[in-house]
Amino acid sequence: MEGWQVERVLKSDRFGSVELVRAGDRRLVRRVVCPRRRPASRALARVLMARERRALAEIEAMAGVPHLVEEAAAAALAAADGRVLAPAEQVLRTWIAGAPLQRAERLPADYFDLLEALVVELHGHGVCHNDLHKEQNVLVAEDGRPALVDFQLASVHRGRGALFTSRARDDVRHVRKHRRRYTRDGRAPGGGAEAAGASRVVRRSWVAAAWRKLGKPVYNLLAHGPGGRVPSEEWRPESGPWPVWTPPLGSTAGEDRVAAGSPGPETGYGSGPAAR
Ligand SMILES: Nc1ncnc2c1ncn2[C@@H]1O[C@H](COP(=O)(O)OP(=O)(O)O)[C@@H](O)[C@H]1O
Ligand SMILES: [Mg+2]
Repeated sequence: MEGWQVERVLKSDRFGSVELVRAGDRRLVRRVVCPRRRPASRALARVLMARERRALAEIEAMAGVPHLVEEAAAAALAAADGRVLAPAEQVLRTWIAGAPLQRAERLPADYFDLLEALVVELHGHGVCHNDLHKEQNVLVAEDGRPALVDFQLASVHRGRGALFTSRARDDVRHVRKHRRRYTRDGRAPGGGAEAAGASRVVRRSWVAAAWRKLGKPVYNLLAHGPGGRVPSEEWRPESGPWPVWTPPLGSTAGEDRVAAGSPGPETGYGSGPAAR
C-alpha cells in the first residue's frame, strides 16, 4: 500500500490549514494548527479544533457529515509546510467527495428539503453547526445529497434551553437563506415561484446578533491579522451560472447513502475534491 501524502491544501489562514491527504485510493481531510510563532491564533485554533472534535464525536452515527478518524500512519505524515505534527495539532476526518454548494452544477429538486432535514437531524443529536451561512461549508455529495463540513464553531448541547433553541434557529435561517437565493427570480425547479420553505425565513437571533457585533471582529483579527484583509468568502455570483435541477432524490433516512470517504457512483453532482 502506498504511503500517505498531502494531495492538496484545501484552505489556509492564520489559524492553520486544511489538507486533503491520500494513500492510494483512500482520502482523509486533515485540519492542521498554525505554527508556534503565532501564539494567539494558535491558542484559539486549538480551542476551535477541540470544539470540532467534540462535535464530530457526537455525530458518529450520522450520514452526511465527516467522521473522526484515528489513523496513526496518516497522523505521522508531515504537514504541507514540513512540520512534524503532534496529535493535538491535527484532526483527521473522513473526506466527502463532491462539491461545495457554490460550485455545484446540478442539484436535485429536493436538495434544500434534504439539507434542512439534515440540519434538523444534527440538532436532534444536540449539535448546532453555527457556521452555515458560508456556502463552502455545505457540500453537494457525489450522489447529490447534502453534506455539512467545518464543525469548528459547532456547539454541543446537553439540554434544549434558550441557547440551543436560538442557535438551532439560526442554522435553519441560514439554510432558508440559501434556499431562497437558489430558488428566487424564477430559478425554482420548474421555473416557478421560489420554493415554499424559502419564504419562511426566520429572524436573526440574539446570539447571532451578539456574534456579529463582538465575536466576529475578534475572530477575524486572529484569523487574518491586525489590519489584515478578510478574504471575501466564495459565493455563487448573482449572475450565475445557477445549477440545473435534476429529479428529486427522496428521503432514504440514510440507508443507501454512500459511505463517507468512499468513491461514489459517477452521478456527476460533484466535480472532484470539494474545495473552496
Ligand atoms: N470532510 C470533507 N470532505 C470534503 N471536503 C471538505 C471536508 N472538509 C473540508 N472540506 C473542504 O475544505 C474546505 C475548508 O475546510 P473547513 O473545514 O471548512 O475549514 P475552515 O474552517 O478553514 O473554513 C471546505 O470549505 C470544503 O470545501
Ligand atoms: Mg469552512
